[in-house]
Amino acid sequence: MQMQFEDAYKEVYEIVKPKYKLFTAGPVACFPEVLEIMKVQMFSHRAKEYKIVHMDTVERLKKFLEVEKGEVLLFPSSGTGIMEASIRNGVSKGGKVLVTIIGAFGKRYKEVVESNGRKAVVLEYEPGKAVKPEDLDEALKKNPDVEAVTITYNETSTGVLNPLPELAKVAKEHDKLVFVDAVSAMGGADIKVTKWGIDVVFGSSQKAFGVPPGLAIGAFSEEFIEIANKAEEKGWYFDVPKYIKYQYKKQGTPSTPPMPQVFGLNVVLRIIEKMGGKEEWLKMYQKRAEIIRNGVREIGLEILAEPGYESPTITAVLTPEGIKGDVIYEEMRKRGFEIAKGYGEGIKEKTFRIGHMGYMTFEDIEEMLQNLKEVIEDLKKKA
Ligand SMILES: Cc1ncc(COP(=O)(O)O)c(C=O)c1O
Repeated sequence: MQMQFEDAYKEVYEIVKPKYKLFTAGPVACFPEVLEIMKVQMFSHRAKEYKIVHMDTVERLKKFLEVEKGEVLLFPSSGTGIMEASIRNGVSKGGKVLVTIIGAFGKRYKEVVESNGRKAVVLEYEPGKAVKPEDLDEALKKNPDVEAVTITYNETSTGVLNPLPELAKVAKEHDKLVFVDAVSAMGGADIKVTKWGIDVVFGSSQKAFGVPPGLAIGAFSEEFIEIANKAEEKGWYFDVPKYIKYQYKKQGTPSTPPMPQVFGLNVVLRIIEKMGGKEEWLKMYQKRAEIIRNGVREIGLEILAEPGYESPTITAVLTPEGIKGDVIYEEMRKRGFEIAKGYGEGIKEKTFRIGHMGYMTFEDIEEMLQNLKEVIEDLKKKA
């Protein structure tokens, strides 16, 4: 294939070409193998070749997420689409949901519950804290009429990883559905869907799998699917039983999927296998997180997450007295590193975040930490 209008390509490339080493909250840098496969010429999503990759991706995800019963589905949306699907398909109209909130994305789940005409009961913590199983138990005792509990597995705004297996266990003891936002956890933290008793868990392509945005991944339990089969007025686009039907009959999705992202995700899942499987891959994430946390502490900075609940995919750092987070962000950009600004009520200016997701080398991490040290020293002198 020959380009005839290379100038058109170059004009856009000039705007979007890579300028920074990314330590973002997502989208994150993608693996070169992923970008390479995403360049292939398009063809019909109903063609045999697409069906092969779609079903292979689903099978690989089932293994990665340890789904023994239920279904894994791919959605042509970002992760929030499945957040909405969980409510529309799994909670009765006007029904109650216990929403646990430890940051901005727990708040989003509450908005999704309420904007779909359901009622939210809230269990909320201050930034940096994780949900405690005993508090969840208490909240469920006080609200026996809720149909589901929502949990943000990894709160991207605070860098906190909730104790998901323990929380799911408590919710199941109360016989509640468990909906898990794993957007910034899936691919970077362990998930055992069936063993942990999770009814819905969703992730997005642009986070720990290191694939461009546009594809959401969901796993659904048999119990949830039974409820969804009977649910009325689920809408068309996020009708879960419709996705299952299409996957069985047409080995695809009801509407056109983002095919390049599906190919990219398939490549990442193969890379994980070649690296030695899920355990080795997750160890890589743990190692990145530990190096970053230790580096940040050596610079003399404090981490927002309470000890024992630190995220393997993103670290929220408290800024030194008198220095705003976005100033640190801008200074790092000047040095060729894109980190993430603080996010969420009360912590936006007091924090900045370092993402550990997607494609990066350990040398990149060391270089980023060295630059961060110099930036903080310079800013402290000026403060
Ligand atoms: C924890 C969490 N939940 C939900 C979302 C929203 O995901 P998406 O933009 O893929 O819809 C994000 C995005 O950053 C997130 O970090």
